[in-house]
Amino acid sequence: MKILVTGGCGYIGSHTCIELLENNYQVVIIDNLSNSKKGVIDKIKKITNKDLTYYEGDVCDKDLLNKIFDQEKIDAVIHFAGYKAVGESVKLPLKYYHNNLCSTITLCEVMASHNVKKLVFSSSATVYGSPKTLPIKEDFPLSTTNPYGTTKLMIEKILKDLYTSDNEWSIAVLRYFNPIGAHSSGLIGENPNDIPNNLMPYIIKVATGELECLNIFGNDYDTKDGTGVRDYIHVVDLSKGHIKAIESITNTTGIDYYNLGTGKGYSVLEIVNTFSKVNNVKVNYKIVERRPGDVATCYADSSYALKKLHWKAEKSIEDMCRDAYLYAIKNK
Ligand code: WQD
Repeated sequence: MKILVTGGCGYIGSHTCIELLENNYQVVIIDNLSNSKKGVIDKIKKITNKDLTYYEGDVCDKDLLNKIFDQEKIDAVIHFAGYKAVGESVKLPLKYYHNNLCSTITLCEVMASHNVKKLVFSSSATVYGSPKTLPIKEDFPLSTTNPYGTTKLMIEKILKDLYTSDNEWSIAVLRYFNPIGAHSSGLIGENPNDIPNNLMPYIIKVATGELECLNIFGNDYDTKDGTGVRDYIHVVDLSKGHIKAIESITNTTGIDYYNLGTGKGYSVLEIVNTFSKVNNVKVNYKIVERRPGDVATCYADSSYALKKLHWKAEKSIEDMCRDAYLYAIKNK
């Protein structure tokens, strides 16, 4: 089977392309390199010793998408491409609504016109807003607190309406919790160009000396040590979940939703201390004010993904911290 991976040069996209190639899928990537580097393509080829096809361009570009579907016999699509910085989305909502919605609508229109109706969509736990109880199940109420999250929720609704209008579609919506870590080769990983918004990339820049000190956003939450608790999942486990999702849509129709998390929550201080311990490196930090919009605790009930996709995260928090740092020091 030939899979089109939109945003395939990105953090999760590139790791998923490796898993696809290692499972003998053919891979076609479209990526405009707005938040990734073209060099990732060669690293994917080096790790897998397999070839792939790459088109540089934007998923909003209907002519380019039509050209790809005309030239490539695409069997299914994994759609990662989209802007994902929560803070930026608050400052630039139109940029987020236009890009994330336009790319998805254009992609689905071109898929339908080429009778390709198998789609895995990269969604986010952010669609759950501030959960009333824990762990979070797929049928929990959905609400969002920022434009980025709202684009994910709107796309989920668009895909639901698309399936309702045409039952030939087979769609898997994957709600990621907090992906961190990197491929064990150290060749690919998460490498934001600017000051990171997320915890692990920030810890890494402090550990490597690029940034002076980690600001821990609040230690007065109702959690084990007062700092925020999240469900961190190794990006390789997350990528393997996409293979299971592709398998699940291959011979069926319908739309379904899956939490891809470990089911365990770790606090900021637990992450910092684990990172320091496994990598034998100091991480300077100070406690500052809470970050607006943060919830105290968020972690998944991922039992449905186990039941229907036969998928479960296997890597430990130590693996995540070790692999994340290995990538950083190999790519300084
Ligand atoms: C994790 C914890 C912070 C940075 C976001 C998006 C979500 C998804 C993952 C895309 C929290 C604390 C963080 C720092 C800190 N992205 N923290 N200092 O907010 O759970 O989720 O990224 O899908 O949609 O909302 O992840 O890594 O930003 O924060 O103390 O410099 O680390 O308060 O408790 P978050 P995060």
